[in-house]
Amino acid sequence: MTLVVHTRADLAEVLTPTGPRAVVMTMGALHEGHAALMSAARSRLQSAGQVVVTDFVNPTQFGAGEDFDRYPRSLAADVDLCRRNHVDVVFAPDVNAVYGQEDSGVTVDPGPRGDILEGVTRPGHFRGVLTVVAKLMHLTRPTMALFGEKDYQQLVLIRSMTQSLDFGVEIVGVPTVRDPDGLAMSSRNRYLSPEARGRSAAIPAALDAGRAGASSGADTARVAARDVLETAGMDIHYVEVTDPDLGPAPAQGHARLLVAVTVGGTRLIDNCALDIGVGG
Ligand code: PAF
Repeated sequence: MTLVVHTRADLAEVLTPTGPRAVVMTMGALHEGHAALMSAARSRLQSAGQVVVTDFVNPTQFGAGEDFDRYPRSLAADVDLCRRNHVDVVFAPDVNAVYGQEDSGVTVDPGPRGDILEGVTRPGHFRGVLTVVAKLMHLTRPTMALFGEKDYQQLVLIRSMTQSLDFGVEIVGVPTVRDPDGLAMSSRNRYLSPEARGRSAAIPAALDAGRAGASSGADTARVAARDVLETAGMDIHYVEVTDPDLGPAPAQGHARLLVAVTVGGTRLIDNCALDIGVGG
């Protein structure tokens, strides 16, 4: 049975006092990518533990002029998807339940990696993300929290926060779920017109090109990915190769290719693992 609660008090009442608990944090508008997080949570916990999904569109991670007001909200459909995925508790608070009335000004600083990549176009975004993730962790008290690799920079920063600040919560990254043409599932895909949706297939194609070029080095991978996006007429925000922790790309070994573009007015991000200078 899936219980739906909206207040801190009701949440506290339905959390099991002991035993493992996995939390999947979402902003709602759930899709199969979120379902994969829920099913990974369930299979890691087995039947013994509790799976909690949080469903909250967090205002503090949206900048002025971003899509906070029009971000899709679909609680009834979200709860249905949670039920089908054997979630125990859905916590769907309002803004007041999370932040209260007073703004203390206390937030979580993501450090310098919050200012690169997404942080360039979205200043303050990761401060908002880490602050709400910290709050939701304290409210749900999980042993484990699962996040999609689609938001790779977010995953790295959340892992870093929980390690640096000793949260004692295991952070699990779950591979990106993709549509048949390779486009990463995202709640924002529903903003795309059919024409923009068709053109978006260039994003996974760019990642494929980057992977294919990786044996010749990080620069070759980056240029190959950028070429595909340029040929498709994309408005490119960045195409970068980093090490797995978002530091400088290695000359050889594990790396990450990250891209952000705007298609038909919608900003989309994606990324993949690379092995630089290996094989070919
Ligand atoms: O990835 C998201 O949906 C959000 O950034 C998160 C982690 C739920 C925080 O609001």
